[in-house]
Order: sequence, then C-alpha cells, then structure tokens
Amino acid sequence: MSLTLRNITYTYPLETEPVIKDLSVEIESGKVYGLIGNNESGKTTLCNIMRGFIPSIYQGDIQGEVIINGQAIEAYEAGELASVVGYSFQNPFTQMSGVKETVYEEIAYGMENLGVPRQQMIQKVAELIQLFKLTDLQNKHPFELSGGQKQRVALASIVALDPEIMILDEPTSQLDPQSTEEIFEIVQLLKKQGKTIILVEHKVDLLAEYCDAILLLEGGKLALAGTVKEVLTNPEVLKLGGQLPQVTQFFLKAVAENKVKIDRLPLTLTEAYGLLQEVD
Ligand SMILES: Nc1ncnc2c1ncn2[C@@H]1O[C@H](COP(=O)(O)OP(=O)(O)O)[C@@H](O)[C@H]1O
Ligand SMILES: [Mg+2]
Repeated sequence: MSLTLRNITYTYPLETEPVIKDLSVEIESGKVYGLIGNNESGKTTLCNIMRGFIPSIYQGDIQGEVIINGQAIEAYEAGELASVVGYSFQNPFTQMSGVKETVYEEIAYGMENLGVPRQQMIQKVAELIQLFKLTDLQNKHPFELSGGQKQRVALASIVALDPEIMILDEPTSQLDPQSTEEIFEIVQLLKKQGKTIILVEHKVDLLAEYCDAILLLEGGKLALAGTVKEVLTNPEVLKLGGQLPQVTQFFLKAVAENKVKIDRLPLTLTEAYGLLQEVD
C-alpha cells in the first residue's frame, strides 16, 4: 500500500512555529524506509501524521494532504485505519495495553478487539511468540518486562494485526545489538511479505543493510530523500544532523586525507572490500 504526503505543514496546539514544514513524500508499497534525523527534528510527529493521530487525537493546525492507497486519510474510519497502518510507539511503556496480565494475552489483545476467530488467534500468537523469541516470557506480566522485552512484545502486537503499512518509531532503542539485529531480520521478513515499513532508527549501519530508501528530517523539513545508496553515502548527511555508516565514514576520511582514491563511497564492508580490489 502506498502512502503519499503532499505539502504537509503542521503546528502543535498553542504553538506558533510549525514543526513539520511543507513536507511532501511518496512512500512506495512494499519498501522499507529508514527515517533519520536528530532529536526533535520531527520524526515522531511525522509518524503521528502518517497514521492519522494528528489531527484526530492531537489537534493543532495541519495543512496539506495525506493519501493512503489513493484515498484521503480522513475518509478512513478509525478502526479501518488502525488495521491498515500499524504503529509502535517510541516508548514501549506506552504501548502495553495495561489491561492484560500476561505477554501471551497482550499479544492477542489487538486481535481480540478486531474480532479475529479464536482458533486463528491462538495459532497466530503461537507463531509470533516463536518469531519474537518470547517463549520464556509468555506467562509473565507485561509490566514485569525490561524495556527491551517490552519493545519485542510491542512489535509482536503490531505484527499480529497484519497491517499493510507499519510505522516503527525507534523499535530497537532499548535493545542490545543481538536483539536489534533480530528485529531487523523480522523487518526483512515483513518486507518479503510485501509490507510497507517506515522505520525511525539511529543505527545507520543496519539501515544501510536492510532499507531500500532513507528519509532525513532536519528541523521539520525533508532535507534528503533517496535510495539508501544516494543518501547514506552523501556527506551532507553529517551537516544535517544524521550519521553515515561506519565504513562510509571511514572511507570519507581516507579519501579526504588522500589515503585512497575511489570514485564512490562504500556502504558496507562487503562493498568496501570490492572497491579496494578495484583500486589494486
Ligand atoms: N505535544 C507537543 N506539543 C508541542 N510541541 C511538541 C509536542 N510533541 C513534540 N513537540 C515538538 O515538536 C518537535 C518535534 O518533536 P518530535 O516529533 O518528537 O521529534 P523527534 O521524534 O525527531 O525527536 C520538537 O521541537 C518537540 O518539542
Ligand atoms: Mg521521536
């Protein structure tokens, strides 16, 4: 499913300065987008616009259009929209329903609300518990979990609803490197199922490996947008509050110091290795 933003400008209630400024972007179906930018650049706000929470829950002044699969976002009913666009909160503590007493029930909660048949629900929860490696935690109370565990449960609850578009706001912020990599592998799996994914994430090395495209926000503006290759090898990223993958940054420095002559920057170690063989 595609998602289009046209000339979005948004100002929070009681504020005078817009936090999103004339932003237009086309999110193509079936692709994974990394959304980057420094703190307060507007990433979470943009997520809330893309899932319709602005202006339905948080008011303020919004100009422009949000179009999901050819239909204006306002034309969707709230329930319908929630089944099309899934969202995982930046803060996983917010995500837990607060009404369920086990991880197992927490994952089933959204499906229950959507009226998914019981047998199907049981099967889906079992699959997700396996996929997200939650077997040992399934009988625990959601509030007993660590931040990282909550993040995994939160993501499983979203995946359970099977939305076509998934917006994941810093889903790995509390996770160790191993669990982070596992989340990225799940993202890849979701992509294979044809999902459209928008991933707010600071870990650019992993974005370089797993995304199709990168959007960089700076001060509420879409400062850069393009393929992973275009954006994450562009040194401008550093001036705009973003980061480059470690390998890219290393070669950028080496080129600046005339230590190596290459005509393009690598994104990954594998690419760097290939480039160096060409040089020899
Ligand atoms: N509820 C709110 N009311 C007023 N201003 C807000 C609100 N939420 C966020 N902001 C402001 O909007 C800007 C963008 O914030 P946010 O979207 O959270 O950025 P990011 O996710 O990139 O850190 C910041 O200046 C922040 O202070
Ligand atoms: Mg944020």
